Amino acid sequence: MALLEILHYPDERLKLKAKEVVEFNPELKQLIADMAETMYKFNGIGLAATQVNIQKRIFITDLAKEGEPSKLTAYINPVITMKQGEETGDEGCLSVPGIFEPVTRAEVITLEYQDVDGNKQSVTCDELQAVCIQHELDHLDGKVFVEYLSNLKQNFIKKKMKKLFK
Ligand code: NI
Repeated sequence: MALLEILHYPDERLKLKAKEVVEFNPELKQLIADMAETMYKFNGIGLAATQVNIQKRIFITDLAKEGEPSKLTAYINPVITMKQGEETGDEGCLSVPGIFEPVTRAEVITLEYQDVDGNKQSVTCDELQAVCIQHELDHLDGKVFVEYLSNLKQNFIKKKMKKLFK
């Protein structure tokens, strides 16, 4: 297992678009294990491969509440096939530590994806899971949640990140 380096906003590499995963091999499983270790280390609930500078269409989530057993899930080649309603809630991101701002997302979604063995899966969800999936999927398309905010807020956050990581 290895801890991976997380890119921080406004790193240009967070804008790269991830490519489809075609090989479901032991290396993929190892990458997901390393991503999980990295996510847990920083107390995240989701992490996209883009955030660790790997341009592959993979993200992981673990939405287990404290005291619950792990619900670690890997979503590979995810595609949203249904969106319904709207909901606004605060979001945070391991690439933008310490920042929590409201974003409007679809309330209910259906996601089709592949699991670590390449099997096709589908999930319909709402609430935190729906928000988290939309947030992580954005990363794979080169988008950080900060980009939904006003220019004023984006500039403020950029300055704050520069101070934090100089
Ligand atoms: Ni994020």
